[in-house]
Amino acid sequence: MAIPEFILRKLFVHESLQVGEDGFSFALHNTFAPGTITGLALKVGGQPVAPEGIVLQVEGEPPRDARAITPEAPFPLPVGVDLTIQVRGAGLGQGRLTLQADTREAGLLVFTVQARKRDNSRQAQRRAHLPRFLRRSLRAEVEVDAEAVIGEVHPYVYGHFVEHLERCVYGGVWTGDGSRLREDTLALVRALRPPVIRYPGGNFASGYHWEDGIGPREQRPRRYDEAWQVGESNQVGTDEFLAFCAEVGADPFLVVNDGSGTPEEATRWVAYCNNPPETEQGRRRAANGHPEPSTIRLWGVGNEVWGRWQIGHTDAAGYAARLHPFVVAMREADPGIRIVAVGDGPLTDAPDDPARQWNETVLREAGDLIDYLSFHIYQAGEEGWREDYDLEALHHTVCAAPLDMEAIIGRMAEQIKALAPGRDIRVALDEWNLWLPPPEGAETMHRVIYTLRDALYAAGVLNAFHRQCNELTLANLAQLVNVLPLIVTDEQRAYATPIYYPFLLYREMERLSLRLRTDSPTFDSEGLGNIKPHRSVPYLDVTATRDETGRRLVLGMVNRHPDRTVRATVVLRGFEPLQPVQAQVLSGPDPLATNTFDAPERVGVGEAPLPTIQGDRFVYRFPASSVTVLVLAAGG
Ligand code: AHR
Repeated sequence: MAIPEFILRKLFVHESLQVGEDGFSFALHNTFAPGTITGLALKVGGQPVAPEGIVLQVEGEPPRDARAITPEAPFPLPVGVDLTIQVRGAGLGQGRLTLQADTREAGLLVFTVQARKRDNSRQAQRRAHLPRFLRRSLRAEVEVDAEAVIGEVHPYVYGHFVEHLERCVYGGVWTGDGSRLREDTLALVRALRPPVIRYPGGNFASGYHWEDGIGPREQRPRRYDEAWQVGESNQVGTDEFLAFCAEVGADPFLVVNDGSGTPEEATRWVAYCNNPPETEQGRRRAANGHPEPSTIRLWGVGNEVWGRWQIGHTDAAGYAARLHPFVVAMREADPGIRIVAVGDGPLTDAPDDPARQWNETVLREAGDLIDYLSFHIYQAGEEGWREDYDLEALHHTVCAAPLDMEAIIGRMAEQIKALAPGRDIRVALDEWNLWLPPPEGAETMHRVIYTLRDALYAAGVLNAFHRQCNELTLANLAQLVNVLPLIVTDEQRAYATPIYYPFLLYREMERLSLRLRTDSPTFDSEGLGNIKPHRSVPYLDVTATRDETGRRLVLGMVNRHPDRTVRATVVLRGFEPLQPVQAQVLSGPDPLATNTFDAPERVGVGEAPLPTIQGDRFVYRFPASSVTVLVLAAGG
């Protein structure tokens, strides 16, 4: 490989130049590939520098005398690091430096550079036009303290959602006729180890009569789904959904129909799922091939009841009044169930915020009945849909959006504390996603194409969930397949979209979320729809989780910068000596990269370099637009 001299010259970090009385020093930044230097010589103004005066050092490694670098004792130069070269006993003269490096990989590399300190602002301007691989990294520092436990992250926050909508159920999770699970989708879902899956809607739930979907398939009635205004074959119903959950190891979360349904119908559903085989509903279930009960704990009552589009739409007082007969009857079938009530996410602190008022009424009038108060958020909401976007501004807006979600969770938790004191009610976010306009020509509004940028958003949301772990204990990404999709299928194939991968990576996380001190370069972002403008948003967004013993630490690091590496020093306080166990990174060619049937893993997860831990810290480079998960563990 011959590397042209003009490219080699760009390795020279002009800002690093230091000139002293007895010599000078400078740095090279290796942006190409890992290299092995087997010999190094330097000339100033064409005159050789005595080798005994030259010392090389890579960050975090001991210094090496240039004379000691030989083919037998080479000097490894990893990619992405700064190599500092100190010269003693020689002046810089007019600054014309020639470097000769013998390398194992590329042979002799020679280049001459006019060494001079550059004016920073001009340098910054130049850098803005340099290709991504030549830019210097941003610096950050993260301190992780083993004792700074926020609380326990409930695994349900990594939950999913399957609705009878478009091709999510038929042709997505199941074959088009609903006769069997699709193996390709199943393999992708299994890998996620989904903790919980919400079903059957969404809007669909408010018109769904679950008894249409049980029993011999050929006898199930075809119905018209009023919510989405299409036919419903009922070939997939409760037993099929529960079998799917069992296949992938997820807990089911069922939403009962409080729109066109009745408390009695909902109660029969609880009994059908949870009661023993000798009861009326248990016998019915056994007759359908499932004698053993499922003990489903999570039951939602209604969906977006506050929305005009919802079947059974009513006001907060009407909903609270409706909750009483539903919950009382459902608990008669199984007192152990946990009720998820429909709440709404206040976007502001204003007392007249309609969502805040909805929650107030539900908490006051039905707070003694419920276990979760839920909300939904799709960012940026339709008010944020534009024909054209400034893509750089949009990148920052999308990456900052999890802050709004985090603020809403906090507002709801405060409302719960104030209005239902003493009740153990948690916040549930049972539908969330980024929802920007689908591409031109998309068949429906749900055919959004997710990019690497959107995966940064999803990871940022999961980081926010970790910070809010004491308040939020259930969340469901909307949706699993083909609708605002985590997974896309056609007749024969399935692939994971970029937003799938944060879920895959974050299943490595441990239970205890830690409070961090992060010092990172920041950005300001513009508001868009339900996303507020933000100031000083850190480019490096970090989460840290550890196990009970503190012997396993898992870090999730999101570099939101669209095209610059972040070089972070991570300081570990209060841990036994930790060793790196695993490093994985989600990345892609650029922030707007997507996956397709032809290139299903353009955005995907790969192995990343293991960090070298020295004492209580390590230095690590996080590629631009990436999500890195590092697993560290105490040895022995
Ligand atoms: O996820 C699609 C739809 O969005 C859901 O059915 C509904 O609850 C929400 O409005």
